[in-house]
Amino acid sequence: MTNSDSIKIQIRWVLIEKYNWSGSEIIQGKRQYAPNELDDINRLRSGEPVDYVIGWKEFLGCHIDLSLKPLIPRPETEFLVSRVISELNKESPLQQGTLPNGSKIKILDLCCGAGCIGIALLKHLPNVSVDFVDIDENALEQTGINLRFLYRDPPAFDAGGSRIIKSDLFDNLKECKFNYILCNPPYVNTNDKYDSSLKFEPRTALFARNKGMYFINKILKGLNNHLLPNGALYLEFGHGQKDLIEKELKKLNISKYSFHKDQYKRWRWVVVDRQGLEP
Ligand SMILES: C[S@@+](CC[C@H](N)C(=O)[O-])C[C@H]1O[C@@H](n2cnc3c(N)ncnc32)[C@H](O)[C@@H]1O
Repeated sequence: MTNSDSIKIQIRWVLIEKYNWSGSEIIQGKRQYAPNELDDINRLRSGEPVDYVIGWKEFLGCHIDLSLKPLIPRPETEFLVSRVISELNKESPLQQGTLPNGSKIKILDLCCGAGCIGIALLKHLPNVSVDFVDIDENALEQTGINLRFLYRDPPAFDAGGSRIIKSDLFDNLKECKFNYILCNPPYVNTNDKYDSSLKFEPRTALFARNKGMYFINKILKGLNNHLLPNGALYLEFGHGQKDLIEKELKKLNISKYSFHKDQYKRWRWVVVDRQGLEP
């Protein structure tokens, strides 16, 4: 598909989704564009991602508002989180009876961005509380907006007890331990050539020094202070980083982990078990 074909499709999508045009109005081509419709068309022509122009995205049945322009949630992340939800619905500490009745599974959404990961977990899992952490105040404000959408959304099990915390990774979480940590950190190598559409998204959400490993390595190092017994980390990483991560896990003497592939059959996330960390 050429770039201009793809922009035509995006324009149709915006007119239908955001401005309620009918399919026949688009085909007939007689309806005039209103000024704000024309502005959006120009944004699309300039290469701005369609999700920013529409202003929200669906993520595992959750409404994720993008008005403050955090990182746009990706389908690969949605795939990972759907796997985690199925796994935890079968085998969470509550089901296994290793958590006392009435207590909640404590989850950390580290590097939360728009909050899509934690919000999907709150929607689809019973008895969880989520701490949302990011260094970027804009992302934290966006997470707050999205949590309010969830509260309004009846199927949510329980968003109570969730917290939004500004922190450089674990820095402001000194005494906090979690059953599960999910994290999609910035991992694009600062020196890599990247798709020009990424220029619309925040740099702090995307890029990391040291072949994209800077944040991943720091997270792996800080892990044993923040995972409860039997807990686990689910960490997304970039295509091509598996070997670097395995090397780091070995260097840190972390022995219990497994690598997983995304829907496009590429290695994209690692699960690290608390049991495999040094005490
Ligand atoms: C790849 S985005 C992930 C956003 C969201 N979790 C998702 O999956 O769509 C990475 C996020 O990490 C945040 N971030 C960058 N450096 C950070 C740091 N040192 N501590 C905490 N968060 C950080 C960015 O602000 C950004 O929101």
